[in-house]
Amino acid sequence: MDRKVRKINKNDEPIIQLVDVVKEFEDKTVLDNVNLSIEKGEFITLLGPSGSGKTTILRIIGGFEWVTRGEVKFFGKDIKDLAPHKRDVSTIFQDYALFPHLNVENNIKYGLRLKRIPKDDIPKSFYNKLKVQQKKWTKKAQTEMKNLDKTMDQYEKLLENDKLSKKKRDKYQSWIDDLDFKYSYWENYKDLKTEDYEKRYLTRRITEKEMDNDVKEIMKLVGLEGNEKKNVNFLSGGMKQRVALARSLVIEPEILLLDEPLSALDAKIREKMQILLRDIQQKLKLTFIFVTHDRNEALQLSDRIAVIRDGKVEQFTTPKELYDYPVNKWVANFIGDSNFFDATFVKGGKVKFMNKTFDTIHEEFEPGERLDALIRPEDVMITRVKSRAKLIGEIVKSTYGGSYYNYDVQVKDKIIYVETSSKHNVGKEVYLDWDIDSIHLMKKDLKLEAEEKESKIENE
Ligand SMILES: Nc1ncnc2c1ncn2[C@@H]1O[C@H](COP(=O)(O)OP(=O)(O)OP(=O)(O)O)[C@@H](O)[C@H]1O
Ligand SMILES: [Mg+2]
Repeated sequence: MDRKVRKINKNDEPIIQLVDVVKEFEDKTVLDNVNLSIEKGEFITLLGPSGSGKTTILRIIGGFEWVTRGEVKFFGKDIKDLAPHKRDVSTIFQDYALFPHLNVENNIKYGLRLKRIPKDDIPKSFYNKLKVQQKKWTKKAQTEMKNLDKTMDQYEKLLENDKLSKKKRDKYQSWIDDLDFKYSYWENYKDLKTEDYEKRYLTRRITEKEMDNDVKEIMKLVGLEGNEKKNVNFLSGGMKQRVALARSLVIEPEILLLDEPLSALDAKIREKMQILLRDIQQKLKLTFIFVTHDRNEALQLSDRIAVIRDGKVEQFTTPKELYDYPVNKWVANFIGDSNFFDATFVKGGKVKFMNKTFDTIHEEFEPGERLDALIRPEDVMITRVKSRAKLIGEIVKSTYGGSYYNYDVQVKDKIIYVETSSKHNVGKEVYLDWDIDSIHLMKKDLKLEAEEKESKIENE
């Protein structure tokens, strides 16, 4: 579809930027200063346990939920005041949300009725008029924003007073939050007015025939050809999800929000849909923000993953970085099965755990500092040479994983997980070795330690 409506707002700023976003439901803080900066064309995944705030972040970007505080920027402009349909965003939900009374084709066509494209012969004067108007709108918005700034400064000064009662403080803060929403309106004022103008003078609805073409093209893209007239109620889960995808894509959004769209599908269809999603995202150069709590799905699909924990972004980086350099034990645990050791930094290049001192590439910690050491199962080698053994243990369990074996190796009172292609028998004594860069050292995760202590006390 190359008849794309000219889109406003384009520049080099991130396509989405959340700045210090706070979301409170009644007294509960659900998002606690979330910062995320997403570039155009990225496949971003929000990964985290149930209740961590993934859906809330998505709903805030989609405009279905208001922030309590903070900014939601789209190409640099705060859009937190904009209604969902004014945002260049489309959402796909886990339960498809198709219209049961419409067939496949008409489900896809649904959103297209609102779509507009440029008129064919537009007098040049219309564009000139727009330019003049835009100057006026910009000026008006600037004046309004300046006034708001002044008022906000006054409230902020009031807040600086330490002796304020909590009630007063909350009141001033809520005034500031309100003003911030008004500010967002004026930030987008020129664009909104421009859109109105375009609607009136520069664009038109698309015709029934153009609609048919768009639908045909998109059906081909998502692999739905031949199913035009089918009743959506009788489609399989995978096919339903394709219809939902087509319906979202056909209106050509800049950003697609996907909230666990594949979690209801069985493994095989799920894999197929993963490939389809990634293909389409790259082909159309769209920005995808995808929610899952399946770490493998996240690692396979994403350009970058934001790990969400208790309403905070714990780490935001590429799958490889996340796997190789998790910021703490909690993230490491969430991303892959691992061996963790309570460790103490000895000095640059030396670390102690399991009562032994090992070489490490890490230099950055303080002597005596308590750390978490991580070694991935696939980095542990079973060697024949006893003199190279870093640890000696006994295989107590073995499972075959297709092309490799997983072993549980008992070393003193600890089980060490080993993944390797060589076959060994349960009961055998083995010598464990690893490369110097296989030890990942991380600062102790105090929050997790406290939680672990608590659950230990509860279990006693
Ligand atoms: N409308 C609401 N009112 C009150 N609390 C809410 C509301 N919506 C969400 N919450 C709370 O906010 C927290 C985050 O919810 P959210 O749905 O964003 O989590 P999630 O990461 O998407 O979880 P899941 O993986 O289970 O979908 C939860 O504790 C939830 O109970
Ligand atoms: Mg959710």
